[in-house]
Amino acid sequence: MIVFFAKNKKICYNMPQTKKLVFKGAIMDKYISSIDKLNLGKIINSGSCSDIHQFIPNFYFKKFKSDYQDIKDPLNAELLEVLRYLSELKNMPYIVRAKDIYLSPTTIFGYSMPIIKAKSLDDIEDNILVSDLLTSFSLLSQDVYTLSKHYVKTEDIGTNNLLYNGLMYMIDLDLSLVDKRYIPDELYERTMYSLIYSLNKVLLDDYRYSDKINVNDWENYYKYLRELSSTALNQEAETIFEMKRGYQKYKHR
Ligand SMILES: Nc1ncnc2c1ncn2[C@@H]1O[C@H](COP(=O)(O)OP(=O)(O)O)[C@@H](O)[C@H]1O
Ligand SMILES: [Mg+2]
Repeated sequence: MIVFFAKNKKICYNMPQTKKLVFKGAIMDKYISSIDKLNLGKIINSGSCSDIHQFIPNFYFKKFKSDYQDIKDPLNAELLEVLRYLSELKNMPYIVRAKDIYLSPTTIFGYSMPIIKAKSLDDIEDNILVSDLLTSFSLLSQDVYTLSKHYVKTEDIGTNNLLYNGLMYMIDLDLSLVDKRYIPDELYERTMYSLIYSLNKVLLDDYRYSDKINVNDWENYYKYLRELSSTALNQEAETIFEMKRGYQKYKHR
């Protein structure tokens, strides 16, 4: 599949392929005449651009609000292309993507995706071991690497779009951009900064921006922070709760 989208919308308009691709169809496209055909279940979450519905067993349905449904709008056409592109990427178990995209020739209704039984990092429990959280982060970072190699620039990464159940998952990549002119290493660094920023909220209760750190050395960065925290506590900071407490004690010493 060809990909070309860009943040610069002028560039996007100049791309004659856009229209062709939109109607080309892809494996995950499911054509329906109306959303009523789908029998969506109850609303799980209501956001400004979409509602998440219960769908078939083990799947949610993300239904776009009307502003995001018209395929003739170039921004929506681009959204569709990004969704298709992400879904076709292989070997990224921790990046949640669309399974099927539901369309009519004029409308993009939304998409189905597997339900991850997990809590968002906003609601994560304090007694979770720091080492477990970091192990799951390490697995996710491998998928971020894969994503970057495929020129995906992520947007909207935050604690609410990261889920944890012993493993860590990234959801809600709808605002991502794809452009083969992007440099994979830079994309990786950028996404990792956002992830580390989110982790720092959870682990340190701190919003320190992580642009000073070498993202390839994040393990040592957290090792160092854990040592600071443990020293301040006078005991090993094992859990998220202890890590946060120790770090805050260190900060306000
Ligand atoms: N695949 C999923 N598995 C589990 N929970 C999900 C999933 N997708 C969405 N959610 C829940 O619904 C919320 C909103 O979904 P999201 O895709 O982030 O929509 P929005 O674009 O409104 O932010 C998420 O923060 C999460 O709590
Ligand atoms: Mg979200």
